[in-house]
Amino acid sequence: MALVSRLGEGLPEWTDPDAVVEAARQWLAGYFTPEQDHPGAVFVAEGEGEVVGVVSVNTRRHFTGSMEAYIGELAVAPHTARTGLGRRLLSTAEAWAREQGVSQMTLETAASNTTARRFYAGAGYREEAIRFTRALDQPV
Ligand SMILES: CC(C)(COP(=O)(O)OP(=O)(O)OC[C@H]1O[C@@H](n2cnc3c(N)ncnc32)[C@H](O)[C@@H]1OP(=O)(O)O)[C@@H](O)C(=O)NCCC(=O)NCCS
Repeated sequence: MALVSRLGEGLPEWTDPDAVVEAARQWLAGYFTPEQDHPGAVFVAEGEGEVVGVVSVNTRRHFTGSMEAYIGELAVAPHTARTGLGRRLLSTAEAWAREQGVSQMTLETAASNTTARRFYAGAGYREEAIRFTRALDQPV
């Protein structure tokens, strides 16, 4: 849960990072709520007795209609950056997805999160959709 605070990084300036982190915490907590009968998985990386990386993965219906896997949260401890941990967690989530019988992995990240965009592009992910947003209390 401590690592989820990293999901407040790289957000657009009009987004409240505290709200994003709190929402991510609730999503992650949902994986550990038995009554939700959650079909997804959470994998952690351990180093020297502490959790240094986390990834959550689940399945859902892609907008084309077929089932896909998607990454909910992925974060590593800052002191492990660029040591390959993120890539290993991603590979672990992909292996889980294959076990579920789905052939596609999807995820969303902030357009302004250049680190994540480089990371995913380097791992073979292509940009699929663009999401538009507008504050309705602002003039056009
Ligand atoms: C994105 C994140 C998970 C990457 O984890 P990581 O363990 O540092 O990444 P890896 O060491 O596996 O990097 C693999 C490749 O991704 C790319 N990459 C990773 N970080 C990068 C950066 N800051 N700048 C440019 N490329 C980067 C590189 O190609 C890298 O390979 P290289 O180090 O051999 O050049 C990590 O930066 C993080 O936790 N960020 C905060 C949370 C977040 O934004 N999560 C993604 C949104 S869901």
